[in-house]
Amino acid sequence: MENQTRKKRVFSGIQPSGDLTLGSYMGAIKNWVTMQDEYDCVYCIVDMHAITVRQNPADLRRRCLEQLAQYLACGLDPAKSILFVQSHVPQHAELSWILGCYTQFGELSRMTQFKQKSQQHADNITAGLFTYPVLMAADILLYQADYVPVGEDQRQHVELCRDIAQRFNGVYSETFVLPEALIQRVDQGARIMSLGNPLSKMSKSDPDGCVYLMDPPEVIQRKFKRAVTDSETSVRYDKENKPGVSNLLTIYCAAAGKSLEEAEAEFAGQGYGVFKPAVGEAVAELLRPMREEAARMMKDKAYLEGVYREGAQRAGRLAQRTLDKVHRKVGFVAR
Ligand code: TRP
Repeated sequence: MENQTRKKRVFSGIQPSGDLTLGSYMGAIKNWVTMQDEYDCVYCIVDMHAITVRQNPADLRRRCLEQLAQYLACGLDPAKSILFVQSHVPQHAELSWILGCYTQFGELSRMTQFKQKSQQHADNITAGLFTYPVLMAADILLYQADYVPVGEDQRQHVELCRDIAQRFNGVYSETFVLPEALIQRVDQGARIMSLGNPLSKMSKSDPDGCVYLMDPPEVIQRKFKRAVTDSETSVRYDKENKPGVSNLLTIYCAAAGKSLEEAEAEFAGQGYGVFKPAVGEAVAELLRPMREEAARMMKDKAYLEGVYREGAQRAGRLAQRTLDKVHRKVGFVAR
């Protein structure tokens, strides 16, 4: 009976390598919030992944806390889900070492993200950048996660995680649940593109093309007024020929809770001079309560500390169960 009612487990994380954006909210966190009711969710701030490229320590610390405040302000609820910081749960690093011994050099060499990032950071291609997917596999497998909601760019890493788990299970008998990637649906606003270059994904490292969750309304308005569109005047969805306008429509629909047809009808016969500020307004209104709430929590460090400490304790207990099992299977002497 108990087994039948056990909820499936979800694990996901975002790196505090930059401030969270509208893309992070619409593409990930909003969906995480919904999943809290149906699943047993574990959401992480993956600071150990963030240091695979060089970070400024003060910025990293601020962004980590701010990311927790934003998770909470967006509706992630510590009474429903486990919210924690990766470096607070040492089992991640421990399992990562072990899994690294069951991962082939060739597999890691084939990772698209490694190839991209090692080009971007050609002067600092560390072992950490190379073994990043192994740490991600440890994140997922420690919690025996059934589902891993991620963007398309992380599909390959989740596939590798499955391969590692399957290999380990094959050698030592059933140990890990094989996780499944849940790639967020594009038509639900999952893929928000840059306002400056609608052909590339909205990225936290592109301040003009992205809207940060903490941007005040006037900054949001300015960014939308400058958004790249096209030389026509009609507001309609056409991803091929009108990527900029289509992206703005996607954002508008997600922010205002309208369908594409409704939005197209609303702006029929109106130019971009009306459309762009309306999108800015809808986004500013959507983000306002979250920004205010996150700012309030940033002033209450004791509250945030309470949340992440409790999260680390709960996560640590689950993680240790898996790690104990792994130690036994590989033949480590019991402590
Ligand atoms: N690599 C992911 C990203 O950059 C972040 C991440 C780390 C993650 N560990 C994870 C996502 C585990 C899902 C599950 O987006």
